Amino acid sequence: MAGKAILRYPDDSYEMPIVEGSYQERAIDIRQLRNDTGLITLDSGYMNTGATTSQITYINGEEGTLLYRGYPIEQLAEASTFVETGYLLIYGELPTQAQLDRFSHLLTYHSMLHEDMRHFFDGFPSTAHPMAILSSMVAALSAYYPDSLEPDANDEDNIARVLSKVRTIAAFGYQKQQGRPVAYPRNDLKYCANFLHMMFSHPAERRYEPDPELVKALNVLLVLHADHEQNCSTSTVRLVGSSRSTLYAAVSAGISALWGPLHGGANQAVIAMLQEIQAEGGDCKAFIRQVKDRNRRLMGFGHRVYRNFDPRATILKRYADRLLRHLNIDDELFDIARELEAAALSDDFFIERKLYPNVDFYSGVLYRAMGIPTEMFTVLFAIGRIPGWIAHWKEMLEDPGLRIGRPRQIYTGPTRRDFVPIEDRGA
Ligand code: CMC
Repeated sequence: MAGKAILRYPDDSYEMPIVEGSYQERAIDIRQLRNDTGLITLDSGYMNTGATTSQITYINGEEGTLLYRGYPIEQLAEASTFVETGYLLIYGELPTQAQLDRFSHLLTYHSMLHEDMRHFFDGFPSTAHPMAILSSMVAALSAYYPDSLEPDANDEDNIARVLSKVRTIAAFGYQKQQGRPVAYPRNDLKYCANFLHMMFSHPAERRYEPDPELVKALNVLLVLHADHEQNCSTSTVRLVGSSRSTLYAAVSAGISALWGPLHGGANQAVIAMLQEIQAEGGDCKAFIRQVKDRNRRLMGFGHRVYRNFDPRATILKRYADRLLRHLNIDDELFDIARELEAAALSDDFFIERKLYPNVDFYSGVLYRAMGIPTEMFTVLFAIGRIPGWIAHWKEMLEDPGLRIGRPRQIYTGPTRRDFVPIEDRGA
């Protein structure tokens, strides 16, 4: 315990322990508050509420620090792969070579979909958003793996299945929308290369060989998205999982939560915004004025936690530059993004509110360069976030104090009244 806090309220006062994290971040422990006093706390948007203690990811929003299990995001983006980082998040330590080989083998072994599931894709209209397809297909996986009905934190098969199959679902959905046959996974390819093969293989063309620079860029993108502690979608996964639903049901709910434009859907919204600016003549200053007049929102800017810079955005800007040069692409949207960033960062409106580019500001430029269609950007975010969701789900199940997530409320509706028959209700 790191001291005590005293709550004074009409007629009484109450003492609560203060708990401290690894970096001396402090919280007032209110777990016995309602039991002991009848009071609850009210915190819409959970701006001040710690939902759990966790050993997975540390963020210092003021300093722009992001650590997975203690390792800085900059080092992981540079030196690790998505699969290795996924192992680290889920199991807590960097794997030995033997552990990594086994984990990779499981991901390869579980990459196929049950052939019946392939027919599900025929049922979606060609206009279906890929996030709608992804969330329903991931929920449907529960039907094929009934052993998942008894959630088990040590169930390495279902953990590997969700991680591996999510990329197969994403790529199959894309190929179907293009009117092409699906490309089955190849066991000779690693996770990211295999995804690119399933996305871009064409039956009439020669065998697709993924460009190592694209594979590296995809690894970096997925590593940067792999976890971000108690965000909207991860909290959703924890909440759904706390009812002991299947891992697939919890992850499917996380995908739905991620979809919104204020969360993972922002990467798609950023490209739409940049295209609008381009169509309006490329005047970034005029756009900034409209944002300040509250007629528009600068997508890809601002973050609930980061108040200085988002380290993921810094890394992605560098990789966007590197990939565009490698592919010899001159993308005007990237130029507009850079100009917009510079205009916003030198403007008092954004400085005062501590608004900086977030992970979504440059990720879309990279996805575009890789040939990923705009509607699939959030799907890529979801693929990247799977290890984080699994890690939180596993950590939660392993917590002996686990209880179903169930917030309370303060009721402000009408007080008790009697039912009125319809003929007596007036016009
Ligand atoms: N453009 C213009 N103004 C903004 C923006 C923005 N992108 N973000 C925040 N503000 C303003 C907001 O209007 C408010 O101003 P005021 O106090 O004068 O009313 C102030 O800054 C504080 O904003 P807030 O809405 O209270 O901040 P929040 O912590 O509730 O919201 C956010 C965080 C990410 C939802 C928000 O910054 C936003 O909508 N950004 C654009 C969407 C986006 O890029 N989302 C991706 C987030 S990163 C990936 C992820 O984790 O999902």
